[in-house]
Amino acid sequence: MGQHLISAKQLSRADIERVLDHAAALERDSPTDRRSGTLLGLCFFEPSTRTRLSFEAAIKRLGGDALDMGAIEASSVTKGETLADTVRVLAGYVDALVLRHPSEGAARMASEFVSVPLINAGDGAGQHPTQTLLDLYTMRENVGLDGLSIGIMGDLKYGRTVHSLSLALTNFDTTQHLVSPESLRLPRGVRYDLEAAGASVQEHTDLSTVLPDLDVLYVTRIQRERFPDDAEYRAIAGEYRIDAATLEDAKENLIVMHPLPRVEEIAADVDETPHAKYFEQAKNGVAVRMALLDLALDGGGIFAADESGSLADWNEGADA
Ligand code: NCD
Repeated sequence: MGQHLISAKQLSRADIERVLDHAAALERDSPTDRRSGTLLGLCFFEPSTRTRLSFEAAIKRLGGDALDMGAIEASSVTKGETLADTVRVLAGYVDALVLRHPSEGAARMASEFVSVPLINAGDGAGQHPTQTLLDLYTMRENVGLDGLSIGIMGDLKYGRTVHSLSLALTNFDTTQHLVSPESLRLPRGVRYDLEAAGASVQEHTDLSTVLPDLDVLYVTRIQRERFPDDAEYRAIAGEYRIDAATLEDAKENLIVMHPLPRVEEIAADVDETPHAKYFEQAKNGVAVRMALLDLALDGGGIFAADESGSLADWNEGADA
């Protein structure tokens, strides 16, 4: 078993259910001392509000504490220290590490240098598996996880939450409707994995044709920071936006999700509708990360090992 969580490809249905069941139990019982004396390292090389703070809340609610590397400007990274050295040193101070980094493959690479569990909290346009666990928790609480039509809309190319969610959904009986402009379709590697898993996937450029069939609409932000060219971003920004009027054609019990932050892709008038579940989704991040940490801290590995490429792949692609 792998002790690190790098990609949603590692998650089987049984793994997912184990984490979600444990999250539900922790939410019910709210224990405060399960992990007293445990230190979680937070190593964020990219901005984050929800992911960083919900990990911190999670370890503290378990009775442990967090050690946050803080802003990179204040760390030795500015002196030219490599990621490998930074995580190797931090891993000596803590019991588990959470890493976010702007380069795809960074978490995979970093995990080769540490002996404590390392959790990928977002690697560039790669993966964001813990977001997926809380997304699935939210779906399960509201509409279940089988027999669903799920629309995933927005930036499917650069959106790491989409890459992870889409792969994890192949464990369930779902049809995925991928809605995006041509230029932001799911990357080839992820499509390949979906195909290999026998996923039921349909691609669309227009939401209106599929909206009435959907049980879940997962909206995402166009990842401006990952566009090589800002003009390309501006050409797309503002499309793929929903408001309360858009949802008039939706099923009564459709749930609208979003990993957040939203910019303008969900109008504020959706917040007042019973469809809106994105704030509940963000809140679920604490219980789900408590469960994940609690299981990971037991040692022995909780998921299949990540086999998505070697260190050499990362070095080649690091600044691509
Ligand atoms: C997402 C991320 O960082 O990938 N946010 C999050 O972790 N909840 C989505 C985004 O930034 O658009």
